[in-house]
Amino acid sequence: MKTPTSAQLAKLSAAAKQASTKAYAPYSKFKVGAAILTQSGKIYTGCNVENASYGLCNCAERTAIFNAVASMEKPLRLACVAVYTPTPKPTAPCGACRQVIYEFGPAARVISTCKGRDKLDCVITELLPQAFGPSDLES
Ligand code: THU
Repeated sequence: MKTPTSAQLAKLSAAAKQASTKAYAPYSKFKVGAAILTQSGKIYTGCNVENASYGLCNCAERTAIFNAVASMEKPLRLACVAVYTPTPKPTAPCGACRQVIYEFGPAARVISTCKGRDKLDCVITELLPQAFGPSDLES
């Protein structure tokens, strides 16, 4: 797929915001939504899913990516990951999610929007420099 258009990115961010309404976050009350755009042009969404055993909480970004893996026939290739948090400033994906994004999108664009006007727009390698990935396992 070519570089996503601004209309596609707006649609993706809207999908992330909509996904945040599905969050199961009774402990943190921090409802996060994510939407991913695949190289094949499909959108998959996810929200954070928490647990009474706090360490088992799953972030919105990983829910979206795992949703895509479980739904796709071909290997997942990420073009873009959009995140939405109900905060005044945009938030970046956590370290674990950065690693999972890199696995499926070593050049993925990451966009984060929030209640306020500010927006984070970067590529995964800025968030996770010198990343460890699938090619490091090749001998
Ligand atoms: N969370 C996400 O879903 N994505 C992030 O990028 C950061 C944190 C979730 C995990 C937990 O359910 C809640 O936000 C508070 O950390």
